[in-house]
Amino acid sequence: MCGIIGYTGPRSAAPILVEGLRRLEYRGYDSAGVALIDPGRTPPMVVTRCEGKIAALAARLEAEPVSGTTGVGHTRWATHGRPCEQNAHPQRAGRVCVVHNGIIENHSRQRAELESRGRVFRSETDTEVVAHLIDEIYDAGPDDLIAAVREAISRLEGAYAICVVHDAHPEQIVAARHASPLLIGLGGEHGEHGLSETFVASDVAAILEHTRTVVDLDDGDIALIDPSGILALLDDDGQPVERGRRRIEWSPLAAEKQGFKHFMLKEIFEQPRAVRDTLIGRLPQTRADADALDFGNLAGLDLATLAERNKITIVACGTSWHAALAGKYLIEQLARLPVEVDLASEFRYREPIVREGDLVLAISQSGETADTKAALQEAQRLGAVGLAICNVVDSSIARAADHVLYTHAGPEISVASTKAFTTQLTMLTMLAVHFGRQTGALADARAGALLDGLREMPVAIDAVLGVQAAIKIIARRWVKARDWLYVGRGLSFPVALEGALKLKEISYVHAEGYASGEMKHGPIALIDESVPVVVLALEGPGYHKTLSNLEEVRSRGAKIIAVATAGDDQIGDVADDVILVPKVDPFLQPILASVPLQLLAYHVADLKGTDVDQPRNLAKSVTVE
Ligand code: F6R
Repeated sequence: MCGIIGYTGPRSAAPILVEGLRRLEYRGYDSAGVALIDPGRTPPMVVTRCEGKIAALAARLEAEPVSGTTGVGHTRWATHGRPCEQNAHPQRAGRVCVVHNGIIENHSRQRAELESRGRVFRSETDTEVVAHLIDEIYDAGPDDLIAAVREAISRLEGAYAICVVHDAHPEQIVAARHASPLLIGLGGEHGEHGLSETFVASDVAAILEHTRTVVDLDDGDIALIDPSGILALLDDDGQPVERGRRRIEWSPLAAEKQGFKHFMLKEIFEQPRAVRDTLIGRLPQTRADADALDFGNLAGLDLATLAERNKITIVACGTSWHAALAGKYLIEQLARLPVEVDLASEFRYREPIVREGDLVLAISQSGETADTKAALQEAQRLGAVGLAICNVVDSSIARAADHVLYTHAGPEISVASTKAFTTQLTMLTMLAVHFGRQTGALADARAGALLDGLREMPVAIDAVLGVQAAIKIIARRWVKARDWLYVGRGLSFPVALEGALKLKEISYVHAEGYASGEMKHGPIALIDESVPVVVLALEGPGYHKTLSNLEEVRSRGAKIIAVATAGDDQIGDVADDVILVPKVDPFLQPILASVPLQLLAYHVADLKGTDVDQPRNLAKSVTVE
């Protein structure tokens, strides 16, 4: 989950690399570095690295400038070796420098072998092994950098993307990927500057201001680039291969904060647009019949057999797993199809029972989460049909699945997921309605009403965003609390889990989510007047039971913050603070009720002064298991 960028062209590389790394900082940010090739120096390659964020690297390069028009850069989230300058990338060995994203699983054995041949290591990283291997193989062969990289990575096991530069190849970069994303950006007639220049990056955000034309590397690909473009591209078997070009439509501005204090707040406020974009193309914007949902790309799914003798398994991690839990409630109740939900990291190691014809649904914002991808692939290997719900187009999970549904939420920069979650819920609701119509479990009128509710959802979210000031006042009242509980019943249970996760990950305050009915089986012991309990008390089937649970905790001194339905005139009697959301169908409540909890978490964290967009110890896209 580190970020990688490379540049070769006529311009000074350092500012391009540093700016690109800034845009990748959300992928990891405990140390950073660049290697620049300055042919005027001996040796030509100069490595500048430091612990901390990109700002520290930029300051160092300003103090000690390095010229050079070819280079590679890296922002790191530590996997092997603690975060420090020594372990930062690029890692150098002899005349080679390597930046790397991922994990080399057999690095200890390789390291021991290299050491036995006299190689001296300076870091604790697995990356240094790669640099030594390439340097050793290159020196023993015929000055062929791409061949040396190919030979070196044939000895590696694991998931990685690497970029390699060499003193003797001042205008070239070799890029290789194995189960970790990497793409090449083409300048020249395709670039914004019309210059003959080429980029490589782990994420398009790093290079978008320079070019919109990219070539995605496939698993096993190795590319040799110079300013004129791709000089050689070899597939897993070492055969020359062509990969198609892709034009990126995201504007660089879409990835900026647009006046909001944090990306997270900007992304919370983008939700009406994001949800609308999820609906577009699948749900006609004007009222049509209940079967007007367009899931044409799922035409091959045999739901009748699925209902009779198979099941759906949803796999995901973190916030996406909370969406998966909601997906179970939605699909089982609306379509009467059996659904199992699993944490992707557990699924593959518990010898799951998967039958030929099962459907595995992988949910992932980034489409790069290693555990989710592995779980999807394991289920597919066992005979399941793979369906992915992803935000990032053409991501690894999207490519690995048999079918993919994109949420179109747009780039999510804040590490804490917000619009990705509500758009996943939106997609799952549409999917459940679609399945319900297919299985016959969902009547015309009921489906029509749900679709109408979805169409109106962006306006309802706007209304919730309108009460931000009131939520901020509640946040201020409770900012000193050290423990929070979140409770909900039915579809509000995953929303409670997500509310608690949002608060803990950005404010570093302890928060737990529970199903309301579980409180009396243990967690109620935690309650006293210093613990705010956030209760999802929305109108619907579980409302009266929730009110009783609420009384149970109140009588033990709990302070209650309730999220309730506009027009509820009972809730004020039992809750200390009330956040009202517009009345919507109970199946649509999770989308709407998530929004005030995001705002509550945001304002608590902002008042505490934490690093909201890049909370400590976290990274946006977790590409290691
Ligand atoms: C929390 C958060 C993480 C991710 C998780 C899965 O705010 O963002 O819990 O949800 O790492 O990521 P994706 O959805 O990209 O697979």
